[in-house]
Amino acid sequence: MSEILDRLSMIGIIPVLALEDAGKAVDVAGALILGGIDCAEVTFRTAAAEDSIRNISKAYPDMLVGAGTVTNTEQVDRALSAGAAFIVTPGYNPKVVNYCVEKRIPIVPGCMDTNSIEMALEAGLDTVKFFPAGQAGGVPMMKALAGPYVNLKFVPTGGVNKDNLLEYLGFKKVIAVGGSWMVKGELVNNGRFDEIERLSREAVEKMLNFHVVHVGIHNDSEEEAEEQVKRFCEIFGFNKEPKTSSTFASDGIEVCRKRFPGVHGHIAVGTPDVARAMYHLAKKGIAFNMDTAKYKNGRLTSVYLEDEIGGFGIHLMQE
Ligand code: 3PG
Repeated sequence: MSEILDRLSMIGIIPVLALEDAGKAVDVAGALILGGIDCAEVTFRTAAAEDSIRNISKAYPDMLVGAGTVTNTEQVDRALSAGAAFIVTPGYNPKVVNYCVEKRIPIVPGCMDTNSIEMALEAGLDTVKFFPAGQAGGVPMMKALAGPYVNLKFVPTGGVNKDNLLEYLGFKKVIAVGGSWMVKGELVNNGRFDEIERLSREAVEKMLNFHVVHVGIHNDSEEEAEEQVKRFCEIFGFNKEPKTSSTFASDGIEVCRKRFPGVHGHIAVGTPDVARAMYHLAKKGIAFNMDTAKYKNGRLTSVYLEDEIGGFGIHLMQE
C-alpha cells in the first residue's frame, strides 16, 4: 500500500463531502479535524469541488485531502493541481485508473463485483472502494468478494454510518470506511460545523471503541501471586486461568508474577486496532513506550502508554 493509503488506514474514516459552496470548505475541514478526522474525500459531484480542495489544502496542509466521484482524466488533473493527494472513483474507469497509475497517484476505484476487482488487480492496485457497500450486500458480500483475492483490501462506502462502521472495520481487509453521515448537505449549508465536529468525534469514538478489559496486580514473586489468585477464586468463585507471566482470576483480574510498567499495577484498555488507536491518541499528545510493544503475525496487539495514571501503567490491547 502507498504511504497515503497507509495513513488513510490509520485515520480509518473518510468523510465524503459534496460541497455546494467552496467558501464553506475550510470550516467543514476544521470541524472534521477538531472531531478527530484529518482526511476528507471532496467529490466532483458539485462544481465547487476543485476550489474546495484548493481551499482546504491551503488552510490545512497536514490534512489528507482526496478527490472523489472522479469520472475523467481532466478532473484528475484539476484535483491534483488543487492539492488532492488521492483519487476515488465510483466505478472502475480504466482510463482514469491507468492515468493515475502512470502518474503514481494513489487511486481507489469503486468495485462491486469480481470483474472490476480483477481489472483493478491487473492495473497493479491492492485496494478498492467497495461501493455502494450497503446496497451491494454489505459485509457478507465484501467477505465473499475478498475470498479469492487474498491480498485485496477494501474501503467500503455507501450506507456506512456510526451504527455499522465497526462491523465493516471488523473485517481485517477493510483499511477504512467512507461515508457522508457526518457531513450531510443540510449541516454544511446551515453552517452546523459544531454538529459536524460532534458527529466526527462520535464516529472516531465508536471506531476506537475503548473499554476496560482487565486490571493487573503486580507482584515480586510467584508465591505472592498464587496467594492472591487463590483468594479471588475462593471469595468470588472466579475461574483461574494461568498464562505465561500471570494468572487470570476471571477475565478481569490479571495477577502478575512480576512487575510490568505501573507502580501499583496496570489497566488494559481494549480497542479493535492498536496501531489506529495510537495514531489518534498521538494527535492528543499521548506518547507510547514502544519497548513494551507486542506483535502477533506482524500486527501490533499491545503497547503501554509512556505515562502512568494514578500509579497504574495503561496498555492498549487488541480486542
Ligand atoms: C460516495 O460517493 O462514496 C457515497 O455517496 C457516500 O455514501 P453515503 O452517502 O451513503 O455515506
